[in-house]
Amino acid sequence: MPGQTVMVQPTPRVRGRVRPPGDKSISHRYALLAAIADGDSTIRGYSTGADCASTLRCLEALGVKIQEESRDSVRGREIRIAGRGIRGLTPPPGVLDAGNSGSTIRMLAGILAAHPFRTAITGDDSLRRRPMRRIIVPLERMGARFTSDAGRPPLSIEGASHLAAIDFEPDVPSAQVKSAVLLAGLHADGVTSVRESLPTRDHTERALRAFGGTVSNVYSTVSVTGGQRLRSCELVVPGDISSATFWMVAASALPGSEVTIEEVGLNPTRTGILDVLRRLGARVDVTDSRGGAAGEPMGTLVVSHGGLRNTQVAPEEVPGLIDELPALAALATHGGGLSVSGAQELRVKESDRISALAEGLRRMGAEIEERPDGFEVRATRRLRGGEVDALNDHRLAMAFAIAALGASGPTTIHDAGAAAVSYPEFFSVLESLRA
Ligand code: S3P
Repeated sequence: MPGQTVMVQPTPRVRGRVRPPGDKSISHRYALLAAIADGDSTIRGYSTGADCASTLRCLEALGVKIQEESRDSVRGREIRIAGRGIRGLTPPPGVLDAGNSGSTIRMLAGILAAHPFRTAITGDDSLRRRPMRRIIVPLERMGARFTSDAGRPPLSIEGASHLAAIDFEPDVPSAQVKSAVLLAGLHADGVTSVRESLPTRDHTERALRAFGGTVSNVYSTVSVTGGQRLRSCELVVPGDISSATFWMVAASALPGSEVTIEEVGLNPTRTGILDVLRRLGARVDVTDSRGGAAGEPMGTLVVSHGGLRNTQVAPEEVPGLIDELPALAALATHGGGLSVSGAQELRVKESDRISALAEGLRRMGAEIEERPDGFEVRATRRLRGGEVDALNDHRLAMAFAIAALGASGPTTIHDAGAAAVSYPEFFSVLESLRA
């Protein structure tokens, strides 16, 4: 719950097994594609987080019937979505609310661009500060019309019954932008291509194939041909590696720690965190790895402390671990140190994560230098703990909690309830891992 304050006590080590929540990025995509497929799809392990619930709520308002078959804090949600087929969504009765979720508003905009009616979509205070021109520009080139608040939500989207295919090169590496254009491209006349300067997560491409679609990848260009129909399917969402990162980081930070993470997604566009943890000195073993049913690899990770060294994250690594950078900053406060560059995108996430991390970690006693495109943490002293504000940003709430584990005193985290955006079970799992 936003606004909730949590006090985190230090711990000497963490040990145990965790099944992380269903991957947030994959859950959104499976729900969106199931909604425009022909027939009923079942999704198991759907994220329990508030962001993925926002996607379902928006789809329901667009005429999609969704049924929750079961809900479990470990296994996640099992949902059944009655697909309405390509261009089958219906005008919503009111303004859609994407909550805190950039993925919902941006990817849904790609689908709505192809529906010939007007949809208004907004979100919470954080989402209404986030840049949307990155999707407005390509989707307008394809034929949709938008109004916005100077490039920010609320958006009004006037979809078109005919979209033109485009060749598009986003200004920033972004899987959400790529996905919005590909989803619109599915409804366009001809072949729509997105050329990426750096590779970003490819869940949309894999999900399209799982729903029977055809997507081509040639070097750094992804293309879809318009007019394809998608077929409903049965899907299992792997555990979220971005949520699991907090436990990997805690295990890497605290001597004597070992955490086993089961059924976690190991898509190579998301595993950059494992390389950085190994560079920092952690022991990271993949003890089993298999291809998931819908082309998403998953497996078991065992992470243990192996000392901490200083390392750097280079600009070309950033898209592969953008959501893991707050957790890595927290890790570096335990020892080693970390410098990150080329990560200016952090400034336009759920909060300005560079300045909010610097402010919060400094309040806990860290030495951290803020840069326009990143930060440097120098691990010169043990944190003392203190009082910090997560600014309603889920990843900051969890990163501060992990930094707090190594402090000499307790840490009070305001707005810690924001963790529920991606990981409602986070604070109870944290308690279960103390050893
Ligand atoms: C996401 C892509 C990334 C990431 C976000 C989820 C996705 O955002 O930070 O949490 O599911 O495609 P950008 O596409 O804006 O880089």
